[in-house]
Amino acid sequence: MSYALNKKETAFPSRLDLDRLSYRDLLKNSPDGLIVFDTHDIIHAFNKGAEDIFGYSSEEVLGRPFYFLIPLELLDKGEIQRLQEMVNANGRLERCYVTRLHKNGSRIKLELTRSQILDEQGVVIGYECVFRDVTQSIEFEKELLLTEKLSAVETLVSGMAHELGTSLNIIQGHSDLILTELSPDSPFSDSLKTIIQACDRMAALMKTLLLDVSRREREIVPLDIGEIIRDLLNFLRIQIKKQNIKTSLDIQDDIPFFQGDRTQIEEILLNIMMNSIQAMPDGGELKVRTATHSENGWDHILMEIKDNGVGIPLEILSRIFEPFFTTKGVGKGAGLGLYITHNLVRRYKGRIKVESAPGCGCSVSIFLPVGPYAINRKEDDR
Ligand SMILES: Nc1ncnc2c1ncn2[C@@H]1O[C@H](COP(=O)(O)OP(=O)(O)O)[C@@H](O)[C@H]1O
Ligand SMILES: [Mg+2]
Repeated sequence: MSYALNKKETAFPSRLDLDRLSYRDLLKNSPDGLIVFDTHDIIHAFNKGAEDIFGYSSEEVLGRPFYFLIPLELLDKGEIQRLQEMVNANGRLERCYVTRLHKNGSRIKLELTRSQILDEQGVVIGYECVFRDVTQSIEFEKELLLTEKLSAVETLVSGMAHELGTSLNIIQGHSDLILTELSPDSPFSDSLKTIIQACDRMAALMKTLLLDVSRREREIVPLDIGEIIRDLLNFLRIQIKKQNIKTSLDIQDDIPFFQGDRTQIEEILLNIMMNSIQAMPDGGELKVRTATHSENGWDHILMEIKDNGVGIPLEILSRIFEPFFTTKGVGKGAGLGLYITHNLVRRYKGRIKVESAPGCGCSVSIFLPVGPYAINRKEDDR
C-alpha cells in the first residue's frame, strides 16, 4: 500500500505540490543549518539555521568564499581538500564531525552532511552542506566521561588508601611500642625512628589521597571571591616576584557572594595559580578575571586564570585531571592538584574548561553555579 501524496490519490484537493518543493525550501527556516556553495567555494545559500549557528546574517556571507568559517590552523592543514576528496569519492559525506568558527571567534562543533550538486550531464556544479551544532552535547559527553573515569579511580584510590592506612597504623603503633621499650642507646632506636618518620610521610600522603579537603564537612559561608583571589596573590607574591611574573586582575565589582567553604575555594584557585606560576619559570603574565555568566538558565560565577607559560600539548590535555599525572620532575609535582580541583569543583556542581596549546600558555575557566541561597551584594549592603 502506498501513502504517496500525489494528486490522484488524495481525497482533498490541495495546492501542495511536493515535487516542486525542494528540501532546500523545507530547510529555509529549519534549525538545521544549510549552506550551498559553488565549485569556487562561493556561498550561494545560507539559511536561518546557519545564521543562528554561525552568528552571521546571510547578507554578510553570500557571494564570499566560505573560508572564514574554518579555523586557520585547519585551513593550513588542508581541511578543504580533505573534505572535498571524501565527498568526491562517494558523491556524499554523511554525518562527519568538524570544527568551525563562530562570528564571535569561538569554536563550534558541527555534525555535517555534504553532498554534490550535479547538472543534467552529471557534472558537479556545487555542494550543499546540512549541519547541526553539537558543541554542547560533545562537551557534555566529554565531561561525563571524565567524571565517570574519575569516580572509578576515586573509589579505587580511596579503598586502597584505607587498606594501606590500617596497615600503616599497625606498623607505626608497634614501632612506637618497641621504641619505648628499647634502651635509648640501642643501635636499633635510630632505625625505628626512621621507620616512624617514613610512616608519618606516608600518612600525610594518604591524607591528601583521601581528599581530606574535599571530603571533610564543609563550612558554607558567603564568600567574596575577589577578596580570596587578592589574598591568594598576596600569599604567592614572593614566588611571583622571584620568577619575574606580572599579574593583572580584572575583578567584577557586582559579582554575587558565593556560598561555599573558604578552604575548598582557596584550594581550587591555589592549585590552578600554582600550575600557572610553575609554567612560567622565566617570567610571564598571570591574568585573573572574574565575571558572572549565565548557562542553561542558571547564573554562574566565572573565575578565569590565564598564563602565557609553556602550555599543554594536545596529547596531554586529556590526562591532566588524572590522579598522579604530572609532567614535572620527581619531587616537584605529585600530579594531584588538578585531580583534587576537579573533585572539588564537581562537588559545587561546577565545571572546568582548560584551553591551551604548546607555547601559547594556558587558560583555565571555572564555572560555579550560584545556588538559590546566593546573596546579592547589593541586598547585603543594605
Ligand atoms: N598552566 C599550566 N601550564 C602548563 N601545563 C599545565 C598547567 N596546568 C597544568 N598543567 C599540566 O598538568 C599536569 C597536572 O597538573 P597537576 O594535577 O596540578 O599536577 P602537578 O602540578 O603536580 O604536576 C602538570 O604536570 C602539567 O603538565
Ligand atoms: Mg599542580
